[in-house]
Amino acid sequence: MTDNNNLESQIESWRERVDQMLEKWLPDSTTPPARLHEAMRYSVFNGGKRVRPILSYATGHTVGIDARHCDAPAVAIELIHAYSLVHDDLPAMDDDDLRRGKPTCHKAFDEATAILAGDALQALAFDVLARELDADIPAEQRLQIIAALGVASGSRGMCGGQAIDLYGVGKKFNIAELENMHIHKTGAPIRASIKMAALCKPGIDTNSLKKLDHYAKCIGLAFQIQDDILDVEGETATLGKTPGADEAKNKPTYPALVGLEQARLMAKELYEDAIESLAPFGASADALRRIANYIVNRSH
Ligand code: IPE
Ligand code: IPE
Ligand code: MG
Ligand code: MG
Ligand code: MG
Repeated sequence: MTDNNNLESQIESWRERVDQMLEKWLPDSTTPPARLHEAMRYSVFNGGKRVRPILSYATGHTVGIDARHCDAPAVAIELIHAYSLVHDDLPAMDDDDLRRGKPTCHKAFDEATAILAGDALQALAFDVLARELDADIPAEQRLQIIAALGVASGSRGMCGGQAIDLYGVGKKFNIAELENMHIHKTGAPIRASIKMAALCKPGIDTNSLKKLDHYAKCIGLAFQIQDDILDVEGETATLGKTPGADEAKNKPTYPALVGLEQARLMAKELYEDAIESLAPFGASADALRRIANYIVNRSH
């Protein structure tokens, strides 16, 4: 077993690493059109936890590849995530004023700039994959990585889930419908962060891919269940978002459908299922175990 302190410092080093890579890829805020670039940087460098890129690096570590091979997926998935939050907060969607303890992008800038910043962050993610993926990765796997991000971000992934979320306002979902929404809007990008990193290993075997994908599916759903729980019991100061927003907007959520206690239990069961899936990897998957634990116990 990896010692806890070592694990924490390893995770911290991945957080710093993705920040450096994001810094490398995001145009400077003085580069024209400066206001757009400023809004893009504002939305990326405003205190995100970087869970998805850390998952990419931890997956790379699990399958035995160097962190530098996972830079492209780590940066790309965080850019997609930042874009998804900018658009999620827009008046036409969740209409939120606070994100990561600061005004949302459309509040700090304006709506049109926020729409463009999201669009540009998404396009940059694919640019990064096309140009930063290591040449040692077989070409076929590089294409699979790009396709994985496309599917996870689009109408069969995150955007599809967001559509279900928006059309679901005021409707009573059953548990299967709710799970389907969460698996798409939040689960798909989390799954992609892991799948893309695993595909960075030349010749990765299908069994490892399957085990990692099952882990990813479980923690992806657990992540959104915990997000729903925090919307009920979190506080603005730690959350950096306005709690109670889901209830105020009549959003379908786990606590609304099954109650807080049952929602917590479901997240715990998903955590245990995720951990079981990591058994074949031994100690090399300790960081993935630690992150799964964090996802269901986090307070922001
Ligand atoms: C929030 O994601 C949006 C969801 C998909 C639930 P995070 O909780 O990872 O947000 P940041 O990036 O740390 O702010
Ligand atoms: C957002 O879910 C999911 C995506 C952005 C894809 P939420 O709407 O619950 O996220 P928060 O609570 O605003 O961060
Ligand atoms: Mg939303
Ligand atoms: Mg929201
Ligand atoms: Mg939420």
